[in-house]
Amino acid sequence: MKINDLDMSNWKSYDDILTDSLWIFESREKGFTRNGEYHGNFIPQIPRQAILRFTKKGEYILDPFAGLGTSLIEAKLLHRNSIGIELSKENVERIKKLLQDTPGDGDHTIMHGNAMDENIFKNMRKIQLAILHPPYWNAIKFTDDENDLSNSKNLNDFLSKFSKIVKNVSSVLDSHRYLVLVIGDIYRRGNVIPLGFLTMNEILKNEYQLKGIVVKNIEENRGKRGKYSLWRYRALLNGFYIFKHEYVIFFKKK
Ligand SMILES: C[S@@+](CC[C@H](N)C(=O)[O-])C[C@H]1O[C@@H](n2cnc3c(N)ncnc32)[C@H](O)[C@@H]1O
Repeated sequence: MKINDLDMSNWKSYDDILTDSLWIFESREKGFTRNGEYHGNFIPQIPRQAILRFTKKGEYILDPFAGLGTSLIEAKLLHRNSIGIELSKENVERIKKLLQDTPGDGDHTIMHGNAMDENIFKNMRKIQLAILHPPYWNAIKFTDDENDLSNSKNLNDFLSKFSKIVKNVSSVLDSHRYLVLVIGDIYRRGNVIPLGFLTMNEILKNEYQLKGIVVKNIEENRGKRGKYSLWRYRALLNGFYIFKHEYVIFFKKK
């Protein structure tokens, strides 16, 4: 079964589609309604790579942590359909406006709600690609809502909330289609909390095959921009390493 629009008789022409496990981007893709102003959003290249490789025109992408709508905007630009869920009402209104101003086509729905709520998924149509970019536990506080994963009380609480959302998303994802997880690790009290591996394991408790672990650089991380020498001093003094990477992990539903 074909899961993209790539013409394999012409495969040498797809220089823009990445197949290596190390993604180094010089800068954030700009243009149209894309913007990098939301602290905690991902670069458009990430959903774009996944959409081009794992969907056909006219198929549906679901992003249950829509943020400021990067996945939905890329879906519209690429003539796919999209569904987004986002806890922040303000973001939802902003995404609606951004989508109106985005060229392209398709059916695009952004819902205000909690992706842990299984009622949202009960009447949802089937989707062909899921893109999950959860909060990195409490690294950035997104809202005051107790259902916000960034307000999880502890690591177990974060993982169990994340796991609930994976189950909800899986209930609407077609078999043999892809789920993409984008996440970074964090430090707590000087030690690494490997959120990438921990969340990957939560997903693998479900019916998924692991298809790729991509490491992507975060050279542009605003939190550390300009403070690099201070971080380097702290790293040298305290024996740790400064995060420059995040994970983009690919799973195929059995
Ligand atoms: C890392 S950001 C996603 C950014 C997005 N990829 C973008 O490029 O704009 C995580 C988002 O998840 C939202 N969120 C947290 N918990 C949620 C929940 N239970 N249901 C729905 N959205 C949630 C936060 O409000 C935040 O906007």
